[in-house]
Amino acid sequence: MSETTNTPYGTLPAASPLPPRKPVSLPRLQEMRERGEKITMLTAYDATFAAVADAAGLECILVGDSLGMVCQGLASTVGVTLETMCYHTESVVRGLRRVQGTAWVIGDLPFGSYQESREQALRSATALMQAGAHMVKLEGGGWTTETVRFLVERGIPVCAHLGLTPQTVHALGGYRVQGRGDLAAEQLRRESLALQDAGAAMLVLEMVPAALATEVTQSLARCATIGIGAGKGTAGQVLVMHDMLGINLRKNPKFVRNFMQGQDSVRAAMAAYVAAVKDGSFPDDSLHAW
Ligand code: KIV
Repeated sequence: MSETTNTPYGTLPAASPLPPRKPVSLPRLQEMRERGEKITMLTAYDATFAAVADAAGLECILVGDSLGMVCQGLASTVGVTLETMCYHTESVVRGLRRVQGTAWVIGDLPFGSYQESREQALRSATALMQAGAHMVKLEGGGWTTETVRFLVERGIPVCAHLGLTPQTVHALGGYRVQGRGDLAAEQLRRESLALQDAGAAMLVLEMVPAALATEVTQSLARCATIGIGAGKGTAGQVLVMHDMLGINLRKNPKFVRNFMQGQDSVRAAMAAYVAAVKDGSFPDDSLHAW
């Protein structure tokens, strides 16, 4: 029997290298979407939590600009800089390399790093990719479509983000549900299709009515929707790690479940999240008022 050792990442072979695992890739994520297997994503901002999330079975790690709120204590994500995003992306990627992690890493383009021009977006996206991200995420529809196309044509995978876009919280009038009413719903449908046509391979849908998120998901043949507060009909789910561990400084949004409850480790809580997303028991649509 081969010897093993207990580490924060689980029971690993003692003296031998880890058995090779296949890195998560875009084709694999697309194949999961086509098969109907839910894609799991959590945010992480440092080496250790990224390694634990990877060991818990997460396919995707989002180095979200939510780090401004949960790590830096800012009131919103607006103050997060590209330099900070690169620092945290490098930390996450280093952590994954230490444990031969396989997760797909998405780096958030922060406010002010892509709005000026497509060239500015390319420079910022290049910095995140050189920090180790596999994909970049940017918020908004309409004007972002050509930016997405510009990046994708230059070999940079892009995740778009519609619905509640926290970088524009001041313009939206607060953290509130989006896509309500015929006009807003139609705009979301239109922008989702345009982003897919521009080459976005993923689309985060944040705080939109579950029925609308399901409809958008079904209308997209090449783009995987990842929901947060958008019901269970999306191709995958994402949560802010601190929220699902119940260590949020503010009140948790009501669509969040505290996965630490009943678990004795962070890794077990993350594994419970993965299992619940995969078997469809999270999210619980009856908890949504929208
Ligand atoms: O920054 C972030 O964590 C995000 C998620 C909430 C999707 O954008």
